[in-house]
Amino acid sequence: MNPVFNPEREYLTISYKKFIENLAKDAGAFLKRRVGRIKKVSYKGRMNLVTDVDKRCDDLIVSRVKSAYPGHEILSEESGKGGADKSEWLWLIDPLDGTTNYVHGFNFFCVSIALMKNNTLLAGAVYDPMRDELFSAAKGTGAFLNHKRIEVSGIGRIDKALLSTGFPYGFGNSVKQNINNFVKLMKESQAVRRPGSAALDLCYVASGRFDGFWEMELHPWDTAAGVLVVKEAGGRVSNFKNELFNPFMNQIVATNRKLHKKILDVLRKETL
Ligand code: IPD
Ligand code: CA
Ligand code: CA
Repeated sequence: MNPVFNPEREYLTISYKKFIENLAKDAGAFLKRRVGRIKKVSYKGRMNLVTDVDKRCDDLIVSRVKSAYPGHEILSEESGKGGADKSEWLWLIDPLDGTTNYVHGFNFFCVSIALMKNNTLLAGAVYDPMRDELFSAAKGTGAFLNHKRIEVSGIGRIDKALLSTGFPYGFGNSVKQNINNFVKLMKESQAVRRPGSAALDLCYVASGRFDGFWEMELHPWDTAAGVLVVKEAGGRVSNFKNELFNPFMNQIVATNRKLHKKILDVLRKETL
């Protein structure tokens, strides 16, 4: 028997995963019902949209987590810090990842929910309700799409790779820098996409649809669940310095592992 196998811990992790999967599916069903029925759109900045649907979905998720786990801390995109004051448990929630797509009727968006214990990602799920695709993972137990195991791609040549990225809201330095990165990687790879939902981009790396993904100014709620799914699918996730990623880092590179160094090398190149 594997000496590090701890049945009690495994059981707990899997039951958290089930709770998260059910919650992500319920929240996703809510998003799907509200497609085309947004009541209020406002701006959190010059380009950063938020709708009544983001907020209501946030309430739905946060209230379920609070009543099931009153002793846990919560960090969600729309309501900020919540739950207990101090805990080793932390929930990271993006009720609607891909709000710009959602507002425009471009149906590529999802719900993202993850749980950390003492800064380690334990379980997470990303649900795309329009395609009924549930990506989920629990630490040490693999990554799944609709409960079937998934793995990253085996592509080792960058000129055969399909990559994706995203751009922060606004027109700051990192947008300019990422336009530069986009051009550099477009020249080296088969193609680069910009789908507009970082959590799904990560899950597409986990399932081998993309071979790599990078972005520059993400938040813990954007990345937490997707990062665990990529890692459990055999991928590598780091920052641009190749330090192991944690959701409180804002730069991310997630790959099928084989392409990791190559993509980092291109990102570090000065010239186009
Ligand atoms: C955004 C999406 C997008 C990424 C942005 C995120 P939101 O999240 O993940 O793909 O490029 O950086 O902020 O605002 O739709 O939850
Ligand atoms: Ca997001
Ligand atoms: Ca969001």
